[in-house]
Amino acid sequence: MKILNVELGDRSYPIYIGSGLLEDAKIITSHIKTKTICIVSNTTVSKLYIENIKNLLGDYQVVEAIIDDGEEFKNYNSLNYIYTKLLENQCNRDTTILALGGGVVGDIAGYAAASFLRGIPFIQIPTTILAQVDSSVGGKTGINHLLGKNMIGAFYQPQAVVIDLDVLKTLDNRQVSAGLAEVIKYGLIWDEAFFEYLEKNIDNLKKLDFEHLENIIFRSCEIKAKVVSEDEKESGIRAILNLGHTFGHAIENCLGYGKWLHGEAVGCGMVLAAKMSLAHGWLSVSEFARVKNLISRANLPIDKPNIAYQDFIDAMKLDKKNKDKEIYLVLQKGIGGAIVTNDYSSSELENLIKG
Ligand SMILES: NC(=O)c1ccc[n+]([C@@H]2O[C@H](COP(=O)([O-])OP(=O)(O)OC[C@H]3O[C@@H](n4cnc5c(N)ncnc54)[C@H](O)[C@@H]3O)[C@@H](O)[C@H]2O)c1
Ligand SMILES: [Zn+2]
Repeated sequence: MKILNVELGDRSYPIYIGSGLLEDAKIITSHIKTKTICIVSNTTVSKLYIENIKNLLGDYQVVEAIIDDGEEFKNYNSLNYIYTKLLENQCNRDTTILALGGGVVGDIAGYAAASFLRGIPFIQIPTTILAQVDSSVGGKTGINHLLGKNMIGAFYQPQAVVIDLDVLKTLDNRQVSAGLAEVIKYGLIWDEAFFEYLEKNIDNLKKLDFEHLENIIFRSCEIKAKVVSEDEKESGIRAILNLGHTFGHAIENCLGYGKWLHGEAVGCGMVLAAKMSLAHGWLSVSEFARVKNLISRANLPIDKPNIAYQDFIDAMKLDKKNKDKEIYLVLQKGIGGAIVTNDYSSSELENLIKG
């Protein structure tokens, strides 16, 4: 097992990474100071893993709040259902929420924890690669509104994150690739050597080789933890974690959520960002080819779907990084470096999106 600390003063917490962690009660219970636990999960993940977790928790009073599976259920109704379960079971501040699932469950359970009784403790047990390397770390919690994704939420840090590799065995190949998109992102924005490691080992990673998987999850969490501890509330550098996302969110939004997985849209978005970086001379021709090649080898789409230009731009205008109605992009400065910029012309963006 590897342990990593997210350094945020009195809100610091450990991330445990390894295989078999959900067999060892102490890892979770050492972070629980309450008598009651509410496990928040969804209909798919709970069938696979909730009995195991409940057995592990032995003497605690355990309440379950199981929400429907899907991004479309990351909404106020599901959140309200969690509050109802907590209130029906007389849960008070003597309750810890355990988020057992992918990013949807983690985000909504985290927001329930942030807002119920003005804040109760929570622990993340992420069960997708995407959630293990990204959404469970850093304290962004929230739900979608009909008018926009992740529009309601809070920064709220967990007590601990428990990443057990074993749960990844039940993920389908598409979800594995979608998670790898965020992993590639860390190499692109921060660490060229890590990018090279991914180039060498992408086939092993697609096969869920645990040794390599543990290494890349650790390094991804380490990079995210570093960025988050420098800029917890995203007033500066944290925005580079958004590489590929301005384009990616627009793709998800225009195609309709769920058509492409988030990681697939981000993979394609990172190719678009790389193209723009190439045009600026910030990536060389061979670096651009490497970016595209790795994303393609991860079984992620590299060609933009057919979306009308104006729809694409309108969707990009909803991005949270934008200021004064200008679209800010995260672009590459070489492999392993990134900047947030509006230093491009509108015709350049138009050519990119129409091209
Ligand atoms: N808070 C953040 O910083 C942050 C960062 C990135 C993404 N997100 C959010 O995360 C969400 C996406 O997360 P996701 O990709 O994990 O999606 P998800 O939570 O929808 O999970 C994907 C699918 O895999 C299933 N699943 C989960 N674990 C499984 C397992 N072990 N075995 C089999 N099936 C399993 C789920 O039931 C679901 O059908 C989005 O809502 C996004 O906004 C948040
Ligand atoms: Zn993402």
